[in-house]
Amino acid sequence: MRFVVFFAVLVGGVWAAPQLERRACSHDNCLRAMIGSSAVAAPSSSSSSSSVVSSTASSAPPWVKTTAPSGAIIVDGTSPFTPGSFPTVQGGVNALSLTTTNPQVLFIYPGTYVEQVYIPPLISNLTVQGWTPDSRSYEANTATITFNLALLNVSSDDETATVRQWNPNTKFYNLNIANTFGHVNKNGQNLAVSAHTTNQGYYGVQLWGYQDTLLANTGNQLYAKSLIVGAIDFIFGQTATAWFDKIDIRTIAAGCITASGRSSAANPSWYVINNSTVAGINDTIPAGTNFLGRPWDSFARVVFQNTSLSDVIAPAGWRVWSTSVGGATNIGNVTFAEYGNYGPGSVLNEGPRASFSEQLDAPVRIESILGAAYRDEWWVDLSYLD
Ligand SMILES: *[C@@H]1O[C@H](CO)[C@@H](O)[C@H](O)[C@H]1NC(C)=O
Ligand SMILES: *[C@@H]1O[C@H](CO)[C@@H](O)[C@H](O)[C@H]1NC(C)=O
Ligand SMILES: *[C@@H]1O[C@H](CO)[C@@H](O)[C@H](O)[C@H]1NC(C)=O
Ligand SMILES: *[C@@H]1O[C@H](CO)[C@@H](O)[C@H](O)[C@H]1NC(C)=O
Ligand SMILES: *[C@@H]1O[C@H](CO)[C@@H](O)[C@H](O)[C@H]1NC(C)=O
Ligand SMILES: *[C@@H]1O[C@H](CO)[C@@H](O)[C@H](O)[C@H]1NC(C)=O
Ligand SMILES: *[C@@H]1O[C@H](CO)[C@@H](O)[C@H](O)[C@H]1NC(C)=O
Repeated sequence: MRFVVFFAVLVGGVWAAPQLERRACSHDNCLRAMIGSSAVAAPSSSSSSSSVVSSTASSAPPWVKTTAPSGAIIVDGTSPFTPGSFPTVQGGVNALSLTTTNPQVLFIYPGTYVEQVYIPPLISNLTVQGWTPDSRSYEANTATITFNLALLNVSSDDETATVRQWNPNTKFYNLNIANTFGHVNKNGQNLAVSAHTTNQGYYGVQLWGYQDTLLANTGNQLYAKSLIVGAIDFIFGQTATAWFDKIDIRTIAAGCITASGRSSAANPSWYVINNSTVAGINDTIPAGTNFLGRPWDSFARVVFQNTSLSDVIAPAGWRVWSTSVGGATNIGNVTFAEYGNYGPGSVLNEGPRASFSEQLDAPVRIESILGAAYRDEWWVDLSYLD
């Protein structure tokens, strides 16, 4: 399969410069520069002067997140900085306590933060909130973290991630996280997020990459009301039990959406994509060039259910791992399933689906993925599942 190279041109361009560009590059025009289109809805004004911030504080509805909660560590990339704030996200992370058991909050003001961020295991729970006038969706996000490493630069997929999230018990809200490396044929894996631990939720986030955008790797994870963009294997990992709800999945070139690395019958991993939409980022993505998944390992387990599938999804729906002669197909023990999908790319309108896939009689329930008591979990924000 050939994959189109289209935004490697950005490497070395404005996105590669290790500097803050809050005024010069609002999140919207940065993301437009990256994808060359207006796929992301225009945000409202990202004015964030302290007078605006404080005047909205008392009367604002709960989805207005323009004031840092008391006790939060503040990241503010503008000059002059909010007193006591940190100009980089990593600076804010480094200011988190490694010893407290009290929940901690990192609050990120509008800006484009060009850096790689590593969040180490803490003892406490952590909430990371980006400044937004409307936390209920990803469309008004104003805080973008972006970097551009690929596997050819480092020694593991995780180390390419713009955000390496290693703390369990973490909630991310309203951040745009991008890896702008683009694409090369070998060692081009370029993660936006490495979700490396259990008990984490991502709400109203935008994740942008090309190959391997999201490493959903370990433990229980929930992604809701978010945008995930990529071309190749861009939701992948080995052992996570992950639920994706009301996600807009957008493809930017030919490739496979998921690549489950579930390696044995004993491996608990599931990826369930529920109540979501799958489409090309714009009309230039040809029909039939994307697949719901391919098996990174032979017990891959992925379900798409009650999801809108556009015509970018190929009639077969799913494909083998390698199409090279003699390459590993990895289809021996896969669970590649669908239920209740609709749209031009669904079995209602195309097929036949790959023989190693199936149509279920009933949807998978979230309790069977995240546990019977998922509603009581600290990292599960039920308001994003409504
Ligand atoms: C469509 O999206 C692709 C991939 O992001 C981009 O290269 C192209 O410029 C966009 N085309 C239009 C017409 O928006
Ligand atoms: C990653 O490697 C590529 C190819 O060697 C190089 O062009 C690029 O500058 C590197 N990126 C970084 C951030 O070091
Ligand atoms: C931290 O999160 C865990 C579950 O992820 C929860 O059991 C615990 O109560 C939380 N701690 C606090 C102090 O909120
Ligand atoms: C899953 O999808 C169904 C139907 O699209 C929706 O009613 C439900 O709220 C979604 N989420 C969960 C957790 O079931
Ligand atoms: C989720 O399901 C509800 C109820 O079936 C439906 O109204 C809504 O359009 C769905 N949303 C997505 C993103 O599929
Ligand atoms: C499925 O996995 C089992 C256990 O590893 C193995 O014995 C069997 O050959 C596999 N089935 C196929 C069709 O590859
Ligand atoms: C899920 O999809 C099926 C088939 O399209 C439909 O019958 C069912 O009502 C949907 N469930 C919900 C909760 O929307």
